[in-house]
Amino acid sequence: MTEEGKKKLFSAVQPSGAVTIGNYIGAIKNFVTLQDEYDCIYAVADLHAITVRQDPAALRRNTLELMALFIACGIDPNKCILFVQSHVPAHCELTWVLNTIAYPGELSRMTQFKDKSAKHAENVNMGLMDYPVLMASDILLYQAALVPVGADQKQHLELTRDLAIRFNNRYSGTFTVPEGYIPKGNGARIMSLADPSRKMSKSDDNPNAFITMSDDRDTIIRKCKRAVTDSGNEVRFAEDKPGVSNLIAIYTAFTGKTIEETEREFAGKGYGDFKLAVGEAVADALAPVQAEKARLCKDKGYLNQVMKEGAEAASRIARKTLSKVYRKVGFYQGE
Ligand code: TRP
Repeated sequence: MTEEGKKKLFSAVQPSGAVTIGNYIGAIKNFVTLQDEYDCIYAVADLHAITVRQDPAALRRNTLELMALFIACGIDPNKCILFVQSHVPAHCELTWVLNTIAYPGELSRMTQFKDKSAKHAENVNMGLMDYPVLMASDILLYQAALVPVGADQKQHLELTRDLAIRFNNRYSGTFTVPEGYIPKGNGARIMSLADPSRKMSKSDDNPNAFITMSDDRDTIIRKCKRAVTDSGNEVRFAEDKPGVSNLIAIYTAFTGKTIEETEREFAGKGYGDFKLAVGEAVADALAPVQAEKARLCKDKGYLNQVMKEGAEAASRIARKTLSKVYRKVGFYQGE
């Protein structure tokens, strides 16, 4: 906690290409809300990104673009710390120390490691296996109490807690043991538009399954019109209507309306009208974000300044934790 008594909250997003509206609704949109309530620290996780092959020029561009997108979505560098992970060397330094208390057995059992190893069989590297230890370092360096993570990262957060407890037990209390943060209200998981039993993902082979934050108006509307719905014709949020419910979740997230308001608004109307309205609502909401992101991307000087100040602020906190860790493990640090 800080002097103001606010809890610290850490999260990060990888700059590994397109950001979907699922990432926005599930993560970035909440990051914006959280910055008033907590001391928030947000990173662009480029060190994590290279655990799968990246084109260097694309990684550089994606890093800048993600930074711009964060700010365009409303993350305010004056309210929180916003930085690029590789700009703060302490992340790698703490990872090395935590590696000495992490076991290959527990890391090779991680679901994401197994999935990614299967998917990138030609590039199963040590970084991919060590990914959760780097993530633990991200969180523990800032003594974060809260970490908003999606379902796919819960196991990594569990490991972070285990490592924190293990270190604290071996070397005495050093790290805050973090908790997952489950967003209040619309914590909806956005599903594929083509198959509502699967999570919306930018790596889906079918480009109609997802909407990205940079899709243009026509593309967004076309994808919504093609979205898989369910039998019947009623716009109602229900377990047996996964396609329609997913569209309702998207609609409410972008309009701020409730599920009930939405059901009432479309009572007596068919799926066609509803899908068009969803597309228009998403396109309307994204237009100003896209314009602001484009403006920021042209203002590299400003983005560089934000990154620099963010990295400095992050480093100050991270260095404190790291020197405590170095002292505890017995590294000689002069007098
Ligand atoms: N691994 C996370 C993801 O892909 C991103 C991430 C990196 C992260 N470090 C983190 C999330 C620390 C929360 C906390 O979604």
